[in-house]
Amino acid sequence: MKYTYAKFSVKTSAKHLVIGGLCLVGAIAAVAVESAAPQLVTTVVAEPVVHAVTLRKPAGPPTATAHNPDTGVAAQIACATCHATRTPNFDNAASADLDLFHQGLVVQHGSNTCLSCHNSADYGSLHLANNKRVEFTDVVTLCSQCHGPQWRDFQHGAHGGMNGYWDLSKGDRTRNGCTSCHDPHAPKYQGAHPTLPPRDRFLETHHE
Ligand code: HEC
Ligand code: HEC
Ligand code: HEC
Ligand code: HEC
Repeated sequence: MKYTYAKFSVKTSAKHLVIGGLCLVGAIAAVAVESAAPQLVTTVVAEPVVHAVTLRKPAGPPTATAHNPDTGVAAQIACATCHATRTPNFDNAASADLDLFHQGLVVQHGSNTCLSCHNSADYGSLHLANNKRVEFTDVVTLCSQCHGPQWRDFQHGAHGGMNGYWDLSKGDRTRNGCTSCHDPHAPKYQGAHPTLPPRDRFLETHHE
């Protein structure tokens, strides 16, 4: 446990404050003001805040499920296994365009096409609007460049939730990444009904 101490020291100045030499055009007036109250100097010494804010990130690039045609066993394979030798196809924009592989993938995300996010130069990564590479682990950077208001709210703690402490002098904080809650392909937040509280059958009233 770490505590933050705030030290307050009050110094009383023996010297009296003199404000003088106020000159006006046409008349010379020297006004000397002696302060009646002692001068108050407040020094706040706070230890630096030490606790960390951790962002939940995806473990790494995703993999695709394929099966070995000889054994029939499903295996997780890297995107580059196929895409390193395939010419990127910018005409594959929506789920409906896929008939050779990735069939059934649901992408409902505004006007985005597959290669709005996926990096045609390396399918093991994503890209920003200026075509700069972004790792899958840094997907928050990608989401945030198109969703400014949510990113602003996120930075202020009003979007995205957290675990841990508001007061970082008391403990660590963990933030969720955008994809902790939103599926990047179909990001609309799935609404849910709150569960009703448990009902005690012995406390039922008004049997008429
Ligand atoms: C087994 C081979 C294979 C693997 C592994 C694979 N893909 Fe593909 N991918 C394809 C094929 C084939 C197409 C073209 C589909 C079509 O035209 O119907 C495609 C199309 C795409 C497209 C659409 C753009 C384009 O170039 O056609 C994206 C984006 C994509 N894949 C991303 C990925 C990502 C991300 C991974 C890793 C998680 C991955 N793929 C793994 C074979 C593969
Ligand atoms: C808004 C950005 C965005 C768009 C648009 C997008 N993807 Fe993705 N895609 C991602 C991200 C981020 C992941 C990683 C998800 C994760 O970490 O599980 C991903 C994962 C994948 C995967 C591997 C995991 C899986 O779901 O199978 C494939 C394959 C893939 N995308 C293909 C496509 C194809 C094909 C399209 C177009 C039809 C497309 N993506 C459109 C951002 C996007
Ligand atoms: C290239 C720009 C772009 C990127 C990158 C992007 N989005 Fe979007 N997003 C859009 C557009 C466009 C819409 C549709 C807005 C509309 O319909 O008004 C949208 C809609 C959404 C919605 C609302 C969906 C709904 O149906 O209500 C959510 C949530 C969302 N995006 C989350 C994300 C997340 C999470 C990421 C990162 C994985 C991301 N976006 C990346 C452009 C983007
Ligand atoms: C803890 C879960 C959570 C996280 C993390 C999260 N969101 Fe959301 N987001 C939501 C919920 C819930 C809604 C739906 C709010 C509503 O329907 O009023 C939402 C709505 C949205 C919308 C649609 C807003 C609208 O008015 O239609 C966008 C865009 C969005 N989020 C982007 C992001 C981005 C970008 C990030 C990461 C910086 C992010 N979200 C992180 C839970 C989350």
